[in-house]
Amino acid sequence: MVPGAHSVSVAVILFLTEKTHLNRRTFYLTFIYAVWALIGLVLAIPAAVYLLWPPRPRKEPDWTEAGTLTQLKLGTPNEFIFRKNRVDGWKVSSEKSTAWVVKMAEQEVVAFSPQCPHLGCAVHWVAKQNEFLCPCHASTFSIEGQVLTGPAPRALDRFKVKVEGDKLLLGPVHRSGEATS
Ligand code: FES
Repeated sequence: MVPGAHSVSVAVILFLTEKTHLNRRTFYLTFIYAVWALIGLVLAIPAAVYLLWPPRPRKEPDWTEAGTLTQLKLGTPNEFIFRKNRVDGWKVSSEKSTAWVVKMAEQEVVAFSPQCPHLGCAVHWVAKQNEFLCPCHASTFSIEGQVLTGPAPRALDRFKVKVEGDKLLLGPVHRSGEATS
């Protein structure tokens, strides 16, 4: 062997080993950074969509099927319990709702909100007295929803009503005294 060749070989081997070691380290570091970047991207996309995509405006569905008219007797209020969907941004929830429905004439149906216009307690129909009664402060209302005794300041609010065949559809509630168009 040429003198000094051994030490050159050792230097080359050491150099290559170090280079390989460096390359491997660089590769692992790059790989780890790439994985972190990917995770960050995966997490950032939904957040960006949530922040940048405008939520749907809060909107209640126009009409909700509340029941059938066959269960109604002329001049006798009936409590209809139904579920209606509420849309709030991306969230759609279903909530229980109630209406006091009265068939006033063959072609005339009205649906009262059960909330007393005084402080919002639930009114109910008292057949014996032929009136709606609020249990909280004893306001009473006629079958047309008019105030008979206070402290309720105004008549019962009404749902917008639509009849399709035998189905009763209820729309939004209108404050008594407001135009219903
Ligand atoms: S809440 Fe009905 S009378 Fe007060």
